[in-house]
Amino acid sequence: MSGNCAYESPEMTELLGETLRPGGFDLTDKGVKFCEWTAADLLLDLGCGQGATVSYLNHSHGLKAMGIDPSRKLLDIARKNNPDGVFEVGSGEAIPYKDAVFEGVLSECTLSLMSDRVAALKEVHRVLKKGGSFYITDVYARNPESLDQLRSHQFESCMRGLYDLKELAADVKKLGFEVLLIEDHSELLKQLLVKTIFEFGSMNAFWKKTGGACAAGFQEALKPCKPGYYMMIARKAE
Ligand SMILES: C[S@@+](CC[C@H](N)C(=O)[O-])C[C@H]1O[C@@H](n2cnc3c(N)ncnc32)[C@H](O)[C@@H]1O
Repeated sequence: MSGNCAYESPEMTELLGETLRPGGFDLTDKGVKFCEWTAADLLLDLGCGQGATVSYLNHSHGLKAMGIDPSRKLLDIARKNNPDGVFEVGSGEAIPYKDAVFEGVLSECTLSLMSDRVAALKEVHRVLKKGGSFYITDVYARNPESLDQLRSHQFESCMRGLYDLKELAADVKKLGFEVLLIEDHSELLKQLLVKTIFEFGSMNAFWKKTGGACAAGFQEALKPCKPGYYMMIARKAE
C-alpha cells in the first residue's frame, strides 16, 4: 500500500505542523462535543497521518482512539510521537477491522484522497456500531461544475480530490446514515491559503515544492472549482 507523497513532504509538515489539515483541533473539539463520545467508546481515526488527533483525543479528551493510514512513513512518525498509541496500516476502502466494532469514526481531510469514496463510506458503515457517529472534515468544490478539468491532473493532494458536497451527503444517506450536521468552514481553508502564500510566495510555488513536475497547471485548474472546507456529522441509522 502506498502513501500520499504530498503529505509525506517536509514542506507540508513545515506549513501545517502535526495536524495535516486546515484548522488544527478546533473542529475536532466541536465534533467530540457533538458526538458525545465517552471514555468507554472505541474510536477510529481514518487516515490518521502523524497521529496528532489520536494523541489529542486520548490525552486531552480522555478518549480511546486508534488510527489507520496507508502511509508507512507517516505511521512511523505517529508511533514515534505516541509510543502508547495504536496505529496500523490500512485504507478507507479496506478498513482492517471486523464489523460493528467502533462507536465513532473520524475522517479529517482524508475522504478527498481516497480513490473510491463510496467504498470507503461503505467500510465506515460496516465497522461502526448501530448509532455510532461518523465525523468528517474535508475540502469540497463550491463550484462542482469545474471539477472535470481538475480530475485530469495526477497531482496527489486532497485538493485534486475535491468533490460535490451535495453528492457526498446523498451517498452518505443512501448507505444508511442519518446526516445530523453539515457546516461550512471555508474560512479555515482561506486562512491556510493566506499562510501558504505568505510562506512560499505563491500557491504555485507551494504545489511545485510538494508535488514536483506533476503540479504544473494545478493551481489554474483548482481555482475555478472554488475550494471550500466543511464539517459533517452522520449517525449509522440501520
Ligand atoms: C490531509 S492528510 C490528514 C492527516 C490527518 N487526518 C490529519 O488531519 O492530520 C491526509 C491523510 O490521508 C491519508 N490517506 C491517503 N489515502 C488514503 C486512503 N485511501 N485511506 C485512508 N487514508 C488515506 C494520507 O496518508 C494522509 O495521512
